[in-house]
Amino acid sequence: MGRVFVAGSINMDVVTTADRHPKVGETVAGKAVHYFPGGKGANQAVAAAKLGAPSTLIGRLGMDAFGQQLRQFLAAQGVDLALVKDTADIHTGTAVITIADADNTIVVVPGANALVSAEDVAAPLLAKGDVAVSQFEIPQPTIAAFFKRARAAGATTILNPAPAMACSPQLLELVDIMILNETELGLLAQAELHDTDEPARFIEAARRLPTASNKIICVTLGKRGVLALVGGESSLIAGRAVKAVDTTGAGDCFVGALAAQLADGKPIRDALDYANAAASICVQRMGAAPSMPTAAEVAAVLRS
Ligand code: RIB
Repeated sequence: MGRVFVAGSINMDVVTTADRHPKVGETVAGKAVHYFPGGKGANQAVAAAKLGAPSTLIGRLGMDAFGQQLRQFLAAQGVDLALVKDTADIHTGTAVITIADADNTIVVVPGANALVSAEDVAAPLLAKGDVAVSQFEIPQPTIAAFFKRARAAGATTILNPAPAMACSPQLLELVDIMILNETELGLLAQAELHDTDEPARFIEAARRLPTASNKIICVTLGKRGVLALVGGESSLIAGRAVKAVDTTGAGDCFVGALAAQLADGKPIRDALDYANAAASICVQRMGAAPSMPTAAEVAAVLRS
């Protein structure tokens, strides 16, 4: 089995719940406050580890209480942290999240994540069959350096360009599989998209992305499921009907699960179904990293 290497962010998510989101300039009374481990990189590494893949996280923490708590949590999930550096004079990444009606708003302050460097990603020994995963909560030049090394080693590269931001065509050329939601797709394909649009519109936008035509593009559409473009052929993997309580980290669960399946040598179609089932479990629980499912839980959903 290959190994999943995730170069990415590690955050403490400070989560408040309320009946509704405040409007600009408004204060609403909240119901609860939670401190959940999160960060897109950490969430994806936890998902892969809990689903049985050897999973290494490359990232940075501040030397503060959040950093210590996150290190302890991630180690307990089976994530290899040998390449996570404690960094002086900067705080651990922190996300301030509000959840109302299962939907979230997030403000993320990168802290130590902004210092993950090309030198940091030069350390892992990547090999053919491994999967290298990253997202946009660490600097893009670091991601490019990581993917160049992965490519040279014959590993598969997965980019989750979240949160949405522009990136260079040179970086996109280093990507084998792109996993993004409709906001990220809209920005990168320069298309105006809405979550209610017909699948054909998303496919048309995905085809416009400046990636090679043999690349795999997965557009995650929340409860509607996932649209996949594989070798130019599009297909819709329908969402599973579940009662969502918190969608934070569902996209990360999908990415980590897909990476774990590919590292295990599974064909892409099976891996997509599996990741879709995994994400349907994640949304039924509060928190990002703590809501990642186990392989036994995903197997039970796939049997049902
Ligand atoms: O994708 C969800 C994650 O985004 C949260 O865990 C939060 O930390 C932000 O990075």
